[in-house]
Amino acid sequence: MLKIAVLISGGGSNLKALLDAAAEPGFPARIVAVGSDTQATGLAYAQAAGVPTFVVRPSDYGSREEWGQVLAAALQEHGVGTGPDPGLVVSAGLMRILPAGFVRLFSPRLINTHPALLPLFPGAHAVRDALAAGETETGVTVHVIDEGVDTGPVLRQARVAILPGETEADLHERIKQIERPLLVETVREIAEGILVLPGELG
Ligand code: GRF
Repeated sequence: MLKIAVLISGGGSNLKALLDAAAEPGFPARIVAVGSDTQATGLAYAQAAGVPTFVVRPSDYGSREEWGQVLAAALQEHGVGTGPDPGLVVSAGLMRILPAGFVRLFSPRLINTHPALLPLFPGAHAVRDALAAGETETGVTVHVIDEGVDTGPVLRQARVAILPGETEADLHERIKQIERPLLVETVREIAEGILVLPGELG
C-alpha cells in the first residue's frame, strides 16, 4: 500500500478526489497526512476523513530553504520521504514553489498537478495565460517536480477544449473536472507499478 502525503493551499477538490478514491476498497494507496502553507479551507476534507493535517507557513521562517526543511520534517514525521518505503508526496494545488533542498530530498517521489498542457503555460496563472494567448485547447498535466517551475518530467496529460467566450473561472472548473480523475488514476498507476517514476527501476 503506497503512503501518500498531499500538499494543498486552497479549496482542496483534488485532495477530496484522492481521499474519496483512497476510501474505496482495493485502492492501492492511503493518505497518511495533508499539509499546507496556509490555513487552507481544503484541510477540512482531511480532518473529516480522520487524516492528520499540518500547516507550515513560509512567513514563520527566515528563508524558503528553511521553510522547506521544516515542511520536509513534518512529512517525514508521517513516514513519507524517508526509509526504504518513502511513499509519495502529491502537490495538489500547493501555490508555492518548493525549494531546491526539498525537491532533492523527495524527487522523483514528488508529483504535481498543473492546469495546462506543459511545457505550455507554466506558473501560477496557467488558465489565464492560455486564454490570453488565444488558445483553443488547454488541459492538465501531472508531472514529477524538479528544481524548475513546472518543468519536471510529464507523467500524464489530458486535453480540454476552450469554449468561445469562456471565463477563466469557468474554464478552470472544467479543467478541474478532468484533473481530479487524472490525478487519481496517475496515483493508482504509480502505486500499482504500472507507471514507473523517472530514475526508478520498473
Ligand atoms: C488545480 O487546478 C491545480 O492544478 C492548481 O490549482 C487548482 C487547485 O484546485 N494548481 P483544488 O484546490 O484542488 O480545488
